[in-house]
Amino acid sequence: MKDVSLETIVSLCKRRGFIYQGSEVYGGLAGTWDYGPLGLSLKRNIMDLWWKTFVTDRDDMYGVDAAILMNQKVWQASGHVDTFTDPLVECSNCHNRFRADKIDTSKCPTCGQSNTFGEPRQFNMMFKTNVGPVDDEASISYLRPETAQGIFTNYKNVLDSFYPDLPFGMAQQGKAFRNEISPRDFVFRSREFEQMEIEYFIHPDQWQQEFEKWVSGIEAFLQALGLPKDKIHQLEVPDADRAHYSKRTIDFEYDFPIGREELLGLAYRTDFDLQNIQKASGKSMEYRPKDGGAPFVPHVIEPSFGVERAIMAVLSAAYTEDEVGGEKRAYLKLPAHLAPVRVAVSPLLKNKPELVAKAQEVYRMLKKEFGAVMYDDNGNIGKRYRRQDEIGTPYCVTIDFDTTEGDGTVTVRNRDNTSQERILPDNIIDFIKDLTQ
Ligand code: GAP
Repeated sequence: MKDVSLETIVSLCKRRGFIYQGSEVYGGLAGTWDYGPLGLSLKRNIMDLWWKTFVTDRDDMYGVDAAILMNQKVWQASGHVDTFTDPLVECSNCHNRFRADKIDTSKCPTCGQSNTFGEPRQFNMMFKTNVGPVDDEASISYLRPETAQGIFTNYKNVLDSFYPDLPFGMAQQGKAFRNEISPRDFVFRSREFEQMEIEYFIHPDQWQQEFEKWVSGIEAFLQALGLPKDKIHQLEVPDADRAHYSKRTIDFEYDFPIGREELLGLAYRTDFDLQNIQKASGKSMEYRPKDGGAPFVPHVIEPSFGVERAIMAVLSAAYTEDEVGGEKRAYLKLPAHLAPVRVAVSPLLKNKPELVAKAQEVYRMLKKEFGAVMYDDNGNIGKRYRRQDEIGTPYCVTIDFDTTEGDGTVTVRNRDNTSQERILPDNIIDFIKDLTQ
């Protein structure tokens, strides 16, 4: 099958209730997106899988959830106030603005005029705001541009409360905000998005081996997202392109419908942040080895995931077209553990009370077990299957007259091969679990 286009994904997301344009009813707000019921469910499943994989399944990880608004000193010490910038150019003819590193500046991509751009100026991407009723220098704050600083500023708190052995990690999921010059490509480059980040604190001598372990950990997670290996690429970021704090970075790139782009980053952030906090706050960030060794400021390996980019990769990997009974079919071949709806339950006919009653009973039973179960009696059964295929529901259970008047079995239909098996209601849960494990 040829690769899916971005337009196909965007239109499916809107039509089926995954992702809508932010503030759409008022004409939208560039770079913002709203999640509908199915998109939210998919997003939560991805975030929960990440949390389970990297936090709850491990013994060396501590979760935090820091405030989005932070003291401005955080962003001064981290270097973001001075250096978190993109080069901005403006066309002197049409006055559209662009990121200078993303276009050919000899010709304006909007109006087509040549030589209309001057020298780029550095544009800081942080959203600035004021905390409290007075609009002055002292009240300045920012919407955080990364979740990482909420981890660094709580490193000492976690150290003092839990006395962890090194190496240990701290993890956070949450919103990040960047005033991108040109938000584009659906949720790929948004102004408000969600990150999942880990700061893994290590002894500096260990950085290379710990870095390699994280490469493997990330590879395994991307496999659990159902992303094909041949579409994932590791880019060793050259010195000149790395963020100001990094000594080594690998960008994990993915072959998105928009081309090969960064999905997530893995950086060796050294002791850059903890040293800066130590200097700016006057508080020690040293770790005291329990064996009596000399205290030191730990170094950090940082895997940084963007949720929106993970969603875009998962949706484009899952999108599949085939032919069923001579008709073209589009479906999302999502891994069952990510599917927004795990099972859909239908009565064959919605005007037959005995079918409806049994369908409701089966629906309640499955909902108790799986949670994400949909009762679907809209349209005819063919249309329901089509709709459930398009949102990636792995199984559809149908109650028909054989259920109520025959051998009591229901039909369980498989999304991927459209096969149907008859099963007793008592066995559905085990059947579905067996197939999805
Ligand atoms: N703490 C390190 C950090 O923030 P980054 O490479 O700037 O590093 C990490 O961002 C990840 O956040 C990216 O790999 C990407 O997945 C996601 N991300 C960054 N900017 C984004 C944007 N404007 N829209 C959506 N996701 C974004």
